[in-house]
Amino acid sequence: MDILRLSSHSDWITARESLSSGLRIGFVPTMGALHAGHLALVEQARQTCDLVVASIFVNPTQFNNPEDFAAYPLDLENDLRALDSVGCYAAYCPQVAEIYPDGATARTMDLGGLDSVLEGALRPGHFQGVATVVDRLFDLIQPDVAFFGQKDYQQVKVIERVAALRGGLPHIVACPIVREPHGLAMSSRNRRLSSAQREAGAAIFQALRFAEAELQAFPVPPRALKLEMRRIIQESGVLQVESIDFALAHSLTPITDGEAYLDRYPEPVQAFVSAYAGDVRLIDTHRIVSEGYVPDTEV
Ligand code: PAF
Repeated sequence: MDILRLSSHSDWITARESLSSGLRIGFVPTMGALHAGHLALVEQARQTCDLVVASIFVNPTQFNNPEDFAAYPLDLENDLRALDSVGCYAAYCPQVAEIYPDGATARTMDLGGLDSVLEGALRPGHFQGVATVVDRLFDLIQPDVAFFGQKDYQQVKVIERVAALRGGLPHIVACPIVREPHGLAMSSRNRRLSSAQREAGAAIFQALRFAEAELQAFPVPPRALKLEMRRIIQESGVLQVESIDFALAHSLTPITDGEAYLDRYPEPVQAFVSAYAGDVRLIDTHRIVSEGYVPDTEV
């Protein structure tokens, strides 16, 4: 394996000193248990950067459920091999004490309310934990560009806000969702699914695509659309819907009016689903209205 394993920040400083200056550094933060979605981020980073650093760190402050943290899959040796296979230059695998020298607690950052809507309302504190760790990782690695998957759409918005608070660096690139052939969005948590649960997981994306197709065919009020989506997912007999939400895609303002047609908003509309397969929480998201409404202007 060629990949450099960095156990501490000083390993990264040493590695950087041996490189020529002015290289464009791409960064792919992860919590390990890597899948094709993570590797696609590294591949995308390689296209525009001179070298790519990934981090592998299971961040305690973003888990609001200690059992979920304890059950989070770890697979370091395979992760390093996988990163190496796609040409990742280095993997930063820090200890908790390096990330949180004053103890593992999240800061309270000004995330402009992005942390308290949608998934943030279901998982209080989660996005503050994400923002805290990502901000710290940016401090330590000092990348030029950082790459994140759009499955965690709200996370991307939060991280864009973190980058803005840092003066616009690193530049944030949101990459397309990578899916299993039948449509289930790739996630490290999928490792904990039985084959029946994995099959059933496809119903989430079916429901999201159904919503998009319905809205292209004729106007459907959001309340009725959500009921149909819920029916499609529950029909799997395996999944329990936790939430189905629609929000304005840029501002993440939740759409709470159950009757107003979705093609009448000034921004595109993004749908968000979370559902449980046993104790595994699955999330997915999809653009269901691709353009915001532009009112006719009188001439
Ligand atoms: O998406 C993830 O894996 C994590 O939330 C991240 C961005 C690595 C922060 O811990």
